[in-house]
Amino acid sequence: MSKIMTLCYLFLSLLFLNAASADTQNKVTANPADKLVSVINENRTADKVSTLSDNPGLACLALQYIKAYQGDCGAVGGSDAKKPPESQFAEVFAPNCGVKASTLAPITGRFLGCQTKYVHAPEAFSDILIRNQKSLDILYSKNHTQVGAAVTGTDGGSPYFWCVLFSSGKPNSTFAFEGGVAKITKPGCFSGANDVCSGASHWSPLTGIWLFATSVMLALGFGFLL
Ligand SMILES: *[C@@H]1O[C@H](CO)[C@@H](O)[C@H](O)[C@H]1NC(C)=O
Ligand SMILES: *[C@@H]1O[C@H](CO)[C@@H](O)[C@H](O)[C@H]1NC(C)=O
Ligand SMILES: *[C@@H]1O[C@H](CO)[C@@H](O)[C@H](O)[C@H]1NC(C)=O
Repeated sequence: MSKIMTLCYLFLSLLFLNAASADTQNKVTANPADKLVSVINENRTADKVSTLSDNPGLACLALQYIKAYQGDCGAVGGSDAKKPPESQFAEVFAPNCGVKASTLAPITGRFLGCQTKYVHAPEAFSDILIRNQKSLDILYSKNHTQVGAAVTGTDGGSPYFWCVLFSSGKPNSTFAFEGGVAKITKPGCFSGANDVCSGASHWSPLTGIWLFATSVMLALGFGFLL
């Protein structure tokens, strides 16, 4: 009995230790969607293609894009993969973001990934979003001028969704917010709005570790050109 108690205690201390250190990291690294855009731009620069402007309006649409999946990780990849109809951009996503529908520009590429375990932006980039040569073609496309990224956990927990949208529009005049001010929508984080998105409470590291320990890890993703 006491042996079991000791084991329990050890397990719990490990959980809390992990939780504490992950929490500190969250505060330091701030918005994971902004981090993801930096990773994308660093990687593009290394491949000698232009860096992309981080457009908060486009990023807010990326968060809406995630919400269209209603937490259904299984719909993201594989043979059952689903995609919101294009009409949703103008009819649902833009109004929800307060983005003027008249300023929408073509989407030239997108990445979407979903995983039950929370990882930091560089791992989300290399392990979930960039999966094959097709992903790299999307990443390095010269058609993009701007990018927006979003990340969210369903109802503040697992599964975690990552979405990146690329566009060919003019950064300063497309995906413009009504009144020029980004409308921050929660839960979730999106890039480009100087939103601190201290997602710490939303990404309870305890939940993440617990799910990792108790459920089969699920990782799905896809990329599209156009
Ligand atoms: C860019 O990302 C790809 C995919 O993760 C990786 O294979 C490559 O090494 C990265 N390039 C640089 C310069 O970091
Ligand atoms: C760039 O855009 C052109 C014209 O729309 C298209 O034909 C081409 O496939 C695109 N290339 C990439 C890499 O997205
Ligand atoms: C876009 O806006 C930024 C910040 O307002 C400004 O510094 C930049 O010169 C603008 N670029 C163009 C092409 O208008």
